[in-house]
Amino acid sequence: MKEIYFAGGCFWGVEHFFKGVDGVVNTTPGYANGSTESPSYEQVYTDKTGHAETVKVEYDPAKVSLQQLTKLFFAIIDPESLNRQGHDEGTRYRSGIFYVDEADKPAIKEVFDRIPGNVVTELEPLRCFFPAEEYHADYLDKNPQGYCHLSLKTFRYLRLYQDLKLVLEGETDVITKMAQISAYIQERMGFFWTGFYRVALSSRPSEARGEILLLGPFQGPPACMRIRYGKGVCGTAWKEKRTLVVPDVEEFPGHIACSAESRSEIVVPVIRNGEVTAVLDIDSKEIATFDRFDAAFLEMIVEEL
Ligand code: SME
Repeated sequence: MKEIYFAGGCFWGVEHFFKGVDGVVNTTPGYANGSTESPSYEQVYTDKTGHAETVKVEYDPAKVSLQQLTKLFFAIIDPESLNRQGHDEGTRYRSGIFYVDEADKPAIKEVFDRIPGNVVTELEPLRCFFPAEEYHADYLDKNPQGYCHLSLKTFRYLRLYQDLKLVLEGETDVITKMAQISAYIQERMGFFWTGFYRVALSSRPSEARGEILLLGPFQGPPACMRIRYGKGVCGTAWKEKRTLVVPDVEEFPGHIACSAESRSEIVVPVIRNGEVTAVLDIDSKEIATFDRFDAAFLEMIVEEL
């Protein structure tokens, strides 16, 4: 058994999230890396102790890797937010990963270094950890209506991601996996359109690069079949090799309206050996449906292809 410590804002939600991760055997909320001994919640709340609300995560490395846990951690926090997660503010809500085994650092760092933006999350040795008062343990199990800074969709994504991992295990055919991923996302998350476009050779001379995005497995109403390199949200995600979150499709220059009902969109490129091989496109009928949390989980999901 191994352990790692995650500070990701209010520890009620962070503990509840990691309890749901396959391979995690125990979780303990507490206070870490501050300057006082055995602090109380009230003392930590003054924000003068230097402690961060932290969750000790004990896990079976044969079932879940440290890298996997680190990716999941980054999927539920905003690593660019200094001393604030959700509505909670203060140094006690800073984000951080605290390790006890120096040998664990490189694996964590590999994930760390791939997180885009101005990351303020700490990566430090654990200096101290004090378990919190008993009533904080399993708080959201004891208080199902209790406060949680994590949105409900992160818990839904976690279940979806883990179920997909199990269902896709052993399958090697990419089209089959794309079909299953589309169906699972559509059914569990209730979006308007979920599907893949694959990079394929184009026989048409007018299509730049000799390649084109071709409609692949999807769920939802009929859609455009071909999208050019650099065109629309999909073609731009292909060109820029990065996830695009579009809160309002009307505002996106060159957006391709396959359906007039689509109002917001997210496109996640599938990258193999540095090249985009496909994109996952999801549309919503509502404005501003997607954010960094959708992006993080969907990027993890397409890694299963
Ligand atoms: N709107 C996308 C085209 C694909 S449909 O949304 C299914 C785009 O601009 O790339």
